[in-house]
Amino acid sequence: MQNSKYYLECTNCKRITPDFAQWFRQNQQCPECGSKHSEVWYRSDYGKLSALLAGNPESFWHYFDYLPLSDRKNIISCNEGAIPLERWGFLEEFAKKHYGVNCEVWVYRNDLNGGTGTFKDVAASLAASLFKEEGIKHYIVASTGNTATSYSKYLALGGILCSVFIPDNALKASEAVISAFSQKVYRIKGDYARAKEVAAEFAKQNNILISSGNIDPIRVEAKKTMVFEWLRIMKKTPDVYIQAVSGGTGPIAIDKGVREIVNAFPQVKNPRMIMVQPDKCDPMVRAWENAERNNFPEGFEKDYPILKSPQTGVPTLATGHPATYPLIARLVRQTGGTFLRISENKLVDFARLVAFERKVLLGPASAVCMAGFFKALKEGRINNNETVLVNTGEGTNRAPDFLEQMIYTTDHVSGIEDCKPYDKQLIEKQLWKAVEG
Ligand SMILES: Cc1ncc(COP(=O)(O)O)c(C=O)c1O
Ligand SMILES: [Zn+2]
Repeated sequence: MQNSKYYLECTNCKRITPDFAQWFRQNQQCPECGSKHSEVWYRSDYGKLSALLAGNPESFWHYFDYLPLSDRKNIISCNEGAIPLERWGFLEEFAKKHYGVNCEVWVYRNDLNGGTGTFKDVAASLAASLFKEEGIKHYIVASTGNTATSYSKYLALGGILCSVFIPDNALKASEAVISAFSQKVYRIKGDYARAKEVAAEFAKQNNILISSGNIDPIRVEAKKTMVFEWLRIMKKTPDVYIQAVSGGTGPIAIDKGVREIVNAFPQVKNPRMIMVQPDKCDPMVRAWENAERNNFPEGFEKDYPILKSPQTGVPTLATGHPATYPLIARLVRQTGGTFLRISENKLVDFARLVAFERKVLLGPASAVCMAGFFKALKEGRINNNETVLVNTGEGTNRAPDFLEQMIYTTDHVSGIEDCKPYDKQLIEKQLWKAVEG
């Protein structure tokens, strides 16, 4: 197996697993210590990455040499992971005008991913390709919605059955897409933690592979390519990274990507990670604030609350039991970042503003992220001359209810006597006022 381009290494005991065929046979865990957290390392030459960074990719498969698939013929792709990274001048101007902060603000347009329009598409593409390569015919995912939707599509493209376990508050539109791709949906009477439990039991009883969550090396390897893409487009890594966080595959993958290439590209570093949660499902923020109050005592990361059935209007972020908090909190602490809470009842204001200024429709989890940017500025967490990356994870296509809330210019009229000329400037002022307040 020495000739495989990669191997997996247990993050706990360093035990090597030669490849994914063996990893799947081991039920995706370390045979030595039982840990599910292994990382993939490559024998590929990183000199070649420099040449790739000058290229113009169609998808994240551009980085095939640094992805754990053996044969390109197994690739299942819908042009995901080579998405625009845009400078949004209106946010830069706002930072300058209101806070005197001169910063670059880049927005990572994951809503434009070709599979299902969320930042889950890269992982689903790698997973489907790997399963095809290894002859896996059935897979299980427990998800708050976006992962399930994405896996459903890509696995269907590979002729692979996907059994999906979603919590009772998952969006109907997610369920519809999964079902339309003829994948099996189990809507669990309970929250996401409960959906995960039932899914795990189903996997065990039927001996079917199940996604191992946010540390799943498949997800991490796919998502780490975002670091390569930032280097390719921005020629640097950002100083600040902002993301709505649920389980935290994003930060875990960035850290992995940085460690993977830092020898070849010494200028690469982890950004300060600003992780945002909505106030109706904020267990990580609560844990962090508590740790901060106590001056981050030894082992602070092990102390976090578990919220039962969180009633958030952003079901994608409804992880009440933040099992990955210890890992994410350590990373956030190391990078000098923080966890921020934003108010859910103002999300639509942020989405309306972005639609007005950029003609981009943000989904609710992306609006959480955007609200986090404004809060970070307000709290003085962004400094002069810094580069900020805002990771928008989704558009509105799976949140029709949220989209409907964006209506604000309608007058219901019976006739001409009810119609007044429209003052767009006044509207603009009101939109800004709503997010500044
Ligand atoms: C759009 C969007 N934003 C944020 C998140 C949270 O992602 P992570 O798993 O990195 O915490 C998700 C996934 O749950 C998502 O779909
Ligand atoms: Zn181990």
